[in-house]
Amino acid sequence: MCGIIGYIGNKDPVPILLKGLKRLEYRGYDSSGIALLQDEKLAHIKRAGKVSDLQSLVDDSSIHGNCGIAHTRWATHGIPNDINAHPHLDHTGNIALVHNGIFENYETIKTLLEKRGVQFTSDTDTEVIVQLISELYYNNEKLTFENSVRAALQEVVGAYGIVALCADEPNKIIAARMGSPLVLGVGEGEYFLASDASPIIEHTRNVIYLDDDEFVIIDNEEYSISNIQSKKIVSKTLTRIDLSIEEIEKGEFPHFMLKEIHDQKHSISDTMRGRLNLFDGTTNLGGIVNYLPNILSASRIYITACGTSWHAGLIGKHLIEEYARVPVHVEYASEFRYRNAIIDPNTIVIAISQSGETADSLAAIKKAKELGATTLGICNVVGSSIARETDAGIFTHAGPEIGVASTKAFTAQVTVLIMLALNIGRKKGVSKDRGKELISSLKTVDQDVINILRSIEDIKEVAKSTSMANHYLYLGRGINFPVALEGALKLKEISYIHAEGYPAAEMKHGPIALIDEKMPVVFIAPQDDTFYKVLSNIEEVKARGGIVITITDKINSSIKSLSDFVLLVPKTHKYVFPITSSIILQILAYEIAVLKNCEIDQPRNLAKSVTVE
Ligand code: F6R
Repeated sequence: MCGIIGYIGNKDPVPILLKGLKRLEYRGYDSSGIALLQDEKLAHIKRAGKVSDLQSLVDDSSIHGNCGIAHTRWATHGIPNDINAHPHLDHTGNIALVHNGIFENYETIKTLLEKRGVQFTSDTDTEVIVQLISELYYNNEKLTFENSVRAALQEVVGAYGIVALCADEPNKIIAARMGSPLVLGVGEGEYFLASDASPIIEHTRNVIYLDDDEFVIIDNEEYSISNIQSKKIVSKTLTRIDLSIEEIEKGEFPHFMLKEIHDQKHSISDTMRGRLNLFDGTTNLGGIVNYLPNILSASRIYITACGTSWHAGLIGKHLIEEYARVPVHVEYASEFRYRNAIIDPNTIVIAISQSGETADSLAAIKKAKELGATTLGICNVVGSSIARETDAGIFTHAGPEIGVASTKAFTAQVTVLIMLALNIGRKKGVSKDRGKELISSLKTVDQDVINILRSIEDIKEVAKSTSMANHYLYLGRGINFPVALEGALKLKEISYIHAEGYPAAEMKHGPIALIDEKMPVVFIAPQDDTFYKVLSNIEEVKARGGIVITITDKINSSIKSLSDFVLLVPKTHKYVFPITSSIILQILAYEIAVLKNCEIDQPRNLAKSVTVE
């Protein structure tokens, strides 16, 4: 949430910062801004709207400099307007700062500063820190700019990644991290600071992931990293990033979301590459080997996550309980972190997170660690905070996910959970044949996805007939109930249609009251043990005039006669079905959003990577 970038080096910072902002725009897109430093003068431009709006303002200006900072915002404090956009400047206009995170005690500091006569121009929490730095710097002869920033950071409570400039020190950039991600890019005579590596990789592949409490000074072509408070130098290792530019561009696709839906032709196998062992009917998961004794002896497992990743966790519960026979509790990270869950050294806590930066999931893992649990991460972004904070983990390797609505990350998470459940299960007595049966289905998943993508026209027909609905219901049972939840989430976030997911049999206990001839009801109904029960639910909806859309793996005469639309998923293992059926739901949501002319990659009010509570 919010993207920040800084540049210092021998190139023109303007195109670097603007392109960087475009790469970071998925993190927030309600306003953006840039500040540049040259010859002891600070110039800045900021504006409500997309980065393209900022770009036109910058193009029409003569703004220039030899280093700079920029920001794309997802509003927390203060409406999205020009004034609340970052960078924020102090009252002298000499200090500029961009921030990702929330300063929780900003009101206390603001009141204090106002009493001393400081006048604030914005409604943001961020302006408070820049005015505080200014107060400290200009009223204490002994305090350098660097030490004023350190001192100010010690007064604030909350999460931040900040990058700051001061006109009095024209060749210096200062940055710090506490809770919000920050990456330092180390190039040839040039340095970059950004919320993630995506704006950096076209300039340098060498990065340093900053940890909490770290403070960076880039001065005269050198960088140093130290502890914010103690100033003790921290030695860090350079990480080389392998990401290709194509992976972070949408190519011929109109939207990242559609590209990422199509990526699933290979991303699910990328997740499984080198990890399937058909011969022994098991999986090889190198990332968790050292913690296998703890996992095998665990008395309970918690899975904690947010949003789509939480839905993957619900599927994981079915899988792990089925194969590994250990109780699994799935909790929203935002709830888990604040309650007194029963956690001890026999507990495994798994955080699932595409970004690896979600504030609540990260905090949940930190809490679990404090309480002595073994922590595992299922993350997509290598080098992310959760990946580094957990004891061990399994990367999903789905490739960068830029579309705000998660698609390929979800199917990769479910794939990892299948592999994990089988891995533990096989060690606990699940037969080789059961393992082989599951692995054989996983091996054909690429072809299944290709077949699903061939049925896009059928899905478009459903979208055309139902896109005018104001409400949608998604129903599934067992392992397919979370698929229903995920289908509903996809629809509401990108098309703004109200949608709910329910266990199919629960419909009778309330939601059935909503059904009329305007209500599309999506049934996720594979021909499994509960098929005939779900069929009865379909009958109940039909009897009340609802529009029935059935997603199944085998069409029979009852389904045909009761459904207004049937979308077919290639026959597969019942535990692989959630992967393939969810792709149909992703396409359905996408096509409806296209028909409604919605901003698919940047849905209103949303942003990817929720780094605030
Ligand atoms: C929905 C979506 C969100 C994320 C949630 C967690 O399409 O993308 O619900 O799943 O914000 O994000 P991660 O997985 O990065 O922790």
